[in-house]
Amino acid sequence: MKHLAIILAVSGLALPLGAQAQDAKAGEAAVKKAGCLKCHSVSADKDGPSFKKSAAKYKDQADKLQAFLKSGADKHPVVKSDADLKSISAYILSR
Ligand code: HEC
Repeated sequence: MKHLAIILAVSGLALPLGAQAQDAKAGEAAVKKAGCLKCHSVSADKDGPSFKKSAAKYKDQADKLQAFLKSGADKHPVVKSDADLKSISAYILSR
């Protein structure tokens, strides 16, 4: 019985992690498609800050990162679809 509890606990953890990894993967594709890489890269600053920097700035604040991407502050390109917002923020925060 103890083993069953452990297996359940472990798979319970594995599921949300799997979902996040899937979001991040979709986010990587969305970032390419939206042209974000013209001005950003994962680890080096270009026109905009690196995604690693943004991941540090918005650690545990996916909602704020999504608010930025949705608002298009300072003529920044806007991410309109909710699915893209979710996946792109998961991708950036996983860098
Ligand atoms: C035309 C160039 C350009 C494109 C395209 C672009 N960005 Fe940016 N991005 C910038 C610049 C410049 C900044 C820094 C100034 C600012 O905050 O507006 C920035 C800032 C950011 C930040 C940090 C915001 C903060 O509060 O620190 C994130 C995250 C970001 N961009 C994500 C994206 C994503 C995702 C896309 C694609 C949908 C994208 N950017 C497309 C130029 C660009």
